[in-house]
Amino acid sequence: MSEKKTFYITTPIYYPSANLHIGHALTTVMADTMSRFKRMKDYEVWFLTGSDEHGQKIERTAKSQGVEPKAYVDNIVEGFKRLWKRLDISNTDFIRTTDERHIKVVQNIFKKIYEKGDIYKSEYEGRYCTPCETFFTERQLNEEGSCPDCGRPVELIKEESYFFKMSKYQDRLLKYIEDTPDFIHPVTRRNEMINFIKQGLEDLCVSRTTFDWGIPVPIDEKHVIYVWFDALTNYISALGYGTENDELYQKFWPVDIHLVGKDIVRFHTIIWPTILMAADIPLPKKVYGHGWLLLESGKMSKSKGNVVDPNVLIDKYGVDPIRYFLLREIPAGSDGYYSEEALVNRYNTDLANDFGNLVSRTVAMVDKYFGGIIPEGNVPGQYDDELKALAAKVPEEAEGFIENMDFANALAAVWKLINRANKYIDETMPWALAKDEGQKGRLATVLYNLLEAIRISTTMLIPALPQTPAKVGEQIGFDFSNSRWNDAKTWGLIKPGNRVNKKDAIFPRIDPKTLEVNEMETEEKVPEKTFSMEPLKEEITIEDFAKVDLRVAEVIACERVENTDKLLKLELKLGEETRTIVSGVAKHYEPQELVGKKIIIVANLKPAKLRGIMSQGMLLAASNGDVLEVITVEKDLPAGSRVK
Ligand code: MSP
Repeated sequence: MSEKKTFYITTPIYYPSANLHIGHALTTVMADTMSRFKRMKDYEVWFLTGSDEHGQKIERTAKSQGVEPKAYVDNIVEGFKRLWKRLDISNTDFIRTTDERHIKVVQNIFKKIYEKGDIYKSEYEGRYCTPCETFFTERQLNEEGSCPDCGRPVELIKEESYFFKMSKYQDRLLKYIEDTPDFIHPVTRRNEMINFIKQGLEDLCVSRTTFDWGIPVPIDEKHVIYVWFDALTNYISALGYGTENDELYQKFWPVDIHLVGKDIVRFHTIIWPTILMAADIPLPKKVYGHGWLLLESGKMSKSKGNVVDPNVLIDKYGVDPIRYFLLREIPAGSDGYYSEEALVNRYNTDLANDFGNLVSRTVAMVDKYFGGIIPEGNVPGQYDDELKALAAKVPEEAEGFIENMDFANALAAVWKLINRANKYIDETMPWALAKDEGQKGRLATVLYNLLEAIRISTTMLIPALPQTPAKVGEQIGFDFSNSRWNDAKTWGLIKPGNRVNKKDAIFPRIDPKTLEVNEMETEEKVPEKTFSMEPLKEEITIEDFAKVDLRVAEVIACERVENTDKLLKLELKLGEETRTIVSGVAKHYEPQELVGKKIIIVANLKPAKLRGIMSQGMLLAASNGDVLEVITVEKDLPAGSRVK
């Protein structure tokens, strides 16, 4: 018998510095969906998640609550596990960095690299951002001298430290990234990382002496190991790397996908691979950096008090609707927005109306016209071929999207079939067929085809919505518990003669009036909004439009304009030229967020002075009410490219 193909996927291990929010759930739900999909494709899947429990921030948080760090993390980590269970996350392991099995491996790897001469002792002087647990050089700080990632103040640290010779691996890493197009996804992050490495890698400080809550350096117990060195190693410590019991490591490493948020791609594609190179361990096959889930009021953060608690949403809407929203609403690799209104809209439109109604209507008709017994369908007619052709195409399409972690488009593909089936009901008008005894055979075929379309759609939903298939299955008389992905590619698996069971709607409609925005410790409420489109402007000709010269421009620097809270000054690269533009987007973006982005500008707009600064053009942004998004280009188009 041939060995099963293997698939190893990981989520980041989460900091137990606070409870998890809906943004963390996004990462884990994506990884879970991928795992379930691969299982349906007959892979043996290893799916790891866990908690990143050491570091100064946790130590301080625990102290501030008057408890020992271990007692503090034990409690929070229980909450992590509960949440993943509730969200039906099918992880095969949960690693804690306080686990003995982890500590041993981290120390071994540290020692191995030290003995090789790639870790050495020296003195560290630099800036440290405790919330991000990251060191920065002077050059990397933002204009205010604060953390370039989170904008918070950094601390000046001077201490004896161990250093990892990361610089030694710079060229090898660059070559690996350039030679392995699949290593970093999406491509924008890959380019960012290549640019970062080209600026030069410095050696990395990998130990600290100013606090104790960490793994002791094995050769020098005064020091604890830097949290990122400790944390990244979880991906192999959980597999028993370097221990007697390393079958999992032998079987599953190198990992197929490290799924991470865009903010930590750098750690996974620079620090982690160089550590692995130094330890002579093969590199990950792919690091996928997904976008962030944002609120209309900006980033979710505990300090802002606008964190959305997934538990509250599960209580209110159930597990699958939350999973559906997260997967459907966040475009692959880009940011997406959460609001309870958007969640309810998605629920009502896609789940209640399109899908739920299709199931209810079909089952009700089998009940009414055939006494609940699934009829045989052997009278083909108009529209059947179109429905079947789409049913044959969509599983291939959805599969391609899932392989690229593009769940939004995968679900959109499934909904093409669902909506085609709804249209098929309107076209074939079963209620009219039922009036004519001579059309009984045709009616039977129409209903059979509808049941098949439902079965195929539901099969494709198994990875994303683990609780829904059983409910659909009960109603349409089909057992999905052992379904394989390829069942979606086969027409005709429903058995005539089985019984349907009419039940309550699978996704009862939610009255949007009952909507209330729910946030933990809410300070900033997300305003409720209804969209009213501005009236269209007067018609123009193609020649009128051609006068506007739109170009891709790269933001190379960005800062606030002094004494205004609206204006940002952007330095742009446009071909060989650099330009300055001033734009009123400061309420929506931190300057640092725009740096590196490729935006679109009107390049031939007459320059104008704003607050004493000559603005040479205007950027494009979409807005509605308080929401604004600068239009960006995702692919690697050179600055200066024309936009038509
Ligand atoms: N402990 C580190 C990871 C170490 S992995 C070796 C860490 N933890 S974290 O808890 O701060 O974040 C974990 C993950 O959650 C990151 O991938 C981060 O991008 C993701 N998210 C945190 N907030 C998020 C959103 N609002 N939206 C989407 N993902 C978000 O970093």
